Amino acid sequence: MPKVGVIGGSALEAIENLEVSHREMANTLYGPTSSPLLFGKMNGGEIVFIHRHGFGHTIAPHEINYRANIWALKQLDVTHIVAAAAVGGITEHMSPMTLVIPDQIIDYTHTRSQTFYENSQEPVVHVDFTWPYDDQLRTVLNRSAVNLNMPVVSRGTYGAVQGPRLETAAEIRRLEADGCDIVGMTGMPEAVLARELDIKYVCCAMVVNWAAGKGSQQELLPDSISSNMKAAKASVHRLLAEALPMIMEL
Ligand code: HPA
Repeated sequence: MPKVGVIGGSALEAIENLEVSHREMANTLYGPTSSPLLFGKMNGGEIVFIHRHGFGHTIAPHEINYRANIWALKQLDVTHIVAAAAVGGITEHMSPMTLVIPDQIIDYTHTRSQTFYENSQEPVVHVDFTWPYDDQLRTVLNRSAVNLNMPVVSRGTYGAVQGPRLETAAEIRRLEADGCDIVGMTGMPEAVLARELDIKYVCCAMVVNWAAGKGSQQELLPDSISSNMKAAKASVHRLLAEALPMIMEL
């Protein structure tokens, strides 16, 4: 049976009806995880929940210890990860409050530790990352959104940027020309680290604003983004509850 890890963030701060059995601090080879790990049951499925920004949301995207988080989940025998993300919308159909299940990534991040294959005596492995997200998990999330009548875009390219600032309008034009549909700050190296440890990984992205230069300037104000985030959390939460029994069948 799959063992499911859920990585929360701005789009999923907590899982309200998680029946928590215990919580555990984790210190790994790579240092401490962003938050304690919460173990619990939801809709019949056992999950491990971790918050990538920490429970007080104090860890910026470039400061997250992605390696510790993924390593800790692997040590717990997690086989499948559902990662929630808040993103900006770039292309036509990516309006605020749309759910997107991306199928591709372009990585613009830098100076983040992005591999387990360094400083070790083990031979380097160049993992296949042609398709960064797990297709079966993507199908389950898409089906769940349809079951719930949620507006969903079933594929798209996630542009992972360094942050923590938002982009300039020219940067967003460049991302669009490159083929990005959505933009976020935490998609990488999380996805590739999961791949290196052979954990199936999917991103559940909620658009919380039009990216810079695509909508009104008002929309990029913290109050506007955070009010959309609130609604985003409720949607991601419902989606997860719907998807979990199907993930357990994989
Ligand atoms: N840009 C980058 N990351 C984001 C955005 C954005 O517009 N919205 C939410 N996360």
